[in-house]
Amino acid sequence: MNRIKAAHSAGDMRTLARRRLPRVVFDVIDGGAGDEHTLRWNRESLERISLRPRALADVKHVDTTTTILGDPVSMPMMLAPCSFARMCSSGAESAVARAAGRAGTLYAVPGGSGERPEVVARSATGPLWYQLYMKPDHAANEELLDRVEASGYRVLCVTVDTAIKPYREKDLRNGVTLPVTPSPKLALAGLRHPSWSRDFLLGTGSGFDLFAAKRAYDNFADAINHIKSVTPDDVRWLRERWKGPLVIKGILRCEEVPQLVDLGVDGIVVSNHGGRNLDGAPATIDVLAEVVEAAAGRAEVFLDSGVRRGTDVVKALALGAQAVLVGRPYMFALAAGGESGVDRVLELLHNEIVRAMSLLGATSVKEIDRSLIQLPNAPAAPDAESLLGIG
Ligand SMILES: Cc1cc2nc3c(=O)[nH]c(=O)nc-3n(C[C@H](O)[C@H](O)[C@H](O)COP(=O)(O)O)c2cc1C
Repeated sequence: MNRIKAAHSAGDMRTLARRRLPRVVFDVIDGGAGDEHTLRWNRESLERISLRPRALADVKHVDTTTTILGDPVSMPMMLAPCSFARMCSSGAESAVARAAGRAGTLYAVPGGSGERPEVVARSATGPLWYQLYMKPDHAANEELLDRVEASGYRVLCVTVDTAIKPYREKDLRNGVTLPVTPSPKLALAGLRHPSWSRDFLLGTGSGFDLFAAKRAYDNFADAINHIKSVTPDDVRWLRERWKGPLVIKGILRCEEVPQLVDLGVDGIVVSNHGGRNLDGAPATIDVLAEVVEAAAGRAEVFLDSGVRRGTDVVKALALGAQAVLVGRPYMFALAAGGESGVDRVLELLHNEIVRAMSLLGATSVKEIDRSLIQLPNAPAAPDAESLLGIG
């Protein structure tokens, strides 16, 4: 699709999505909580880190492959769990799963997925994560985990930063509530975006699909309306219940890490939910190093929130992340061009990782280390004094 070929970055995908989606839908994806401080800080903190290339390295061959909890991946980047994919494109989660598989990476299917976990699993060609929002009703959690397990999901990722129902003023001002109720504002927005409305109402392959998008949104509402706090007792229960790798998503404090690792957690996602929950939470890149240190190699640490460039990926890896997750970039790509949009953004981001590594003189993911970055207000080279014999 020509429109998609004209996109040369994740930022371009956002621009295309903004044109195609009704504003109220775009805001659901793009927006953050409160005054959007955390949303901005995620970007600003990444941008303030500079890069220190090893100029004399031979970078004829650059290898971006790595592993994520034992699964081989083509690059240290995977797709974050994001509800509302059905509002971006009728292809939704199955399309994202196929695109992730083609790109050789992983997708965490959201608990608020519009499609049933079984359906997404059937479309996938690679391993999948399942993201769980725990409900107070244990029997409901059990029943869901049975289905997720039977569908062959490899990793269970439990989100812990959403103890209460999200509250986003932008959506409220736009008249978007949970569950979604048709309103004159929504209807008008649809009329102004006929190509989006056609896809939203009719879907692609399976014919008339008038209520599918609403069902998808309501499914998210169901997950989120019955959400509960996740306590150490829950993590203990989940550890006993789930035989595969267990990941906790939404950690921002090093103090919580040793207990999680002792409970048998295999992975930790340093995340502030893309600035969508607690406004004022720190940028994830600013707390990554302390979490990595606290994990002490006993769990893999991942980062999301604000990653838009291959250079951002390198910065996170330099501070100890095993890999990053991206959310909005693939959601915007889905809105801009459906499944081929997701293919395109994954290709662009992969190419950016290759270029970043090449220009930094890192020929493999293992060669990405702390010496490749300079933190704001830090000395130019942390080890310069010892190297030059000064002091
Ligand atoms: C539209 C949207 C829906 C999301 N839905 C979920 C969800 O259902 N479960 C979850 O754990 N995180 C959810 N997230 C958060 C993402 O998993 C991820 O933490 C965040 O998007 C990363 O930031 P980024 O969008 O800046 O890459 C959502 C994010 C967006 C943008």
